[in-house]
Amino acid sequence: MSSLPLERLVPAHVQGFEAYYPSKPDPELMRLFKVDHLHRLNNNENAMGPPPEAGRIVDGFPPRQVPVYPNGDCYYLRHQLAEKFGKTPDQFLVGNGSCEVITSVIKAFCEEGDNIITADKTFAVYEWVAEFSGFEARLIPLRNYGVDPDAMLEAIDERTKILFVCNPNNPTGTYWDTATMTRFLDGVGGERIVVIDEAYFEYVEKDDYPDAMRLMERYPNVIAFRTFSKMYALAALRIGYLCGAPEVVDIVRRTHIVYSVNTLAQAAASAALEDDTGFIRATRDMVAEGKELLSGLFDDMGLEHVHGEGNYMMVHVPMSDTLLYRKLMKKGVMVRTMTGFRFPNWIRVSLVQRPVMEAFCQAFREVLQK
Ligand SMILES: Cc1ncc(COP(=O)(O)O)c(C=O)c1O
Repeated sequence: MSSLPLERLVPAHVQGFEAYYPSKPDPELMRLFKVDHLHRLNNNENAMGPPPEAGRIVDGFPPRQVPVYPNGDCYYLRHQLAEKFGKTPDQFLVGNGSCEVITSVIKAFCEEGDNIITADKTFAVYEWVAEFSGFEARLIPLRNYGVDPDAMLEAIDERTKILFVCNPNNPTGTYWDTATMTRFLDGVGGERIVVIDEAYFEYVEKDDYPDAMRLMERYPNVIAFRTFSKMYALAALRIGYLCGAPEVVDIVRRTHIVYSVNTLAQAAASAALEDDTGFIRATRDMVAEGKELLSGLFDDMGLEHVHGEGNYMMVHVPMSDTLLYRKLMKKGVMVRTMTGFRFPNWIRVSLVQRPVMEAFCQAFREVLQK
């Protein structure tokens, strides 16, 4: 028995926080569910694989670079991002996935008694980092599956430091158009930080979709998040970044771990940004086709479903989502259960190549029509 006085050692906000256990590695799952393949439709990954040049960088990574630390603050990549987006290199901070930059931003601005505001059904890491760091996360219910700007504004008080808007929203795919976003930013005023998480930016083709990197020129309290995990298919390498006004990024840099982004990730991300092979177009077409196929299936079966932008859609299922997950796993199909996202008995499905979508449709029908 441990004699560690954990009650005394561990802050109350950590004691009260429930750890998140990610799923087991694929080989373990395949053994458990007795299948010889697994279609991963649970994490909004881009099943096309990375852009060709990024793939070549990964294939050719020289072992002699392995003993050498990476560049500590992604020097070349930040210069490249600056060039691409018409900014300066000091406006970028690159992290071990954009999850890491979420942590850096919250650490940079929040202290005891502060709160952050976000939606109740959105990417959960903003809420988790705030709570396990001892800050209140105010969770605003969605309206018609969309993030509710007015209710978020109403929740602001003098201790609100950061508002997180996931645009488009994961998991519902809804987005705020430019008019909604600017009205919201005007409502917030310039005295608190607004993070606009654009993890799915490259999937959106709507003319009225606002670009946070442009908005920050008028609203210097805006921080944009982007990632290489989604469109650019580099999730295994863990690389994402933020962009903001130089004085804002200078603050966040103080709380950001240096050397957290490995050399291969930096090089592959750099190659992905340069891609001119039509990779993004091909991915968008694949997603559009998947959306059409699955919408047809869900309509056919009379099931409520929600989708918008992004490479995923959600469907309300007439059984427990965890039971459905297990039944689909036995057929080699892995989806995301949504009870944990506060959408009980919904699942989220990533949109990938047609043969896999067809395998999903078949498995889904078989399981639900039994
Ligand atoms: C909205 C949103 N933001 C951030 C992330 C995290 O991305 P990264 O892999 O860069 O940490 C995800 C991943 O699912 C996401 O959906």
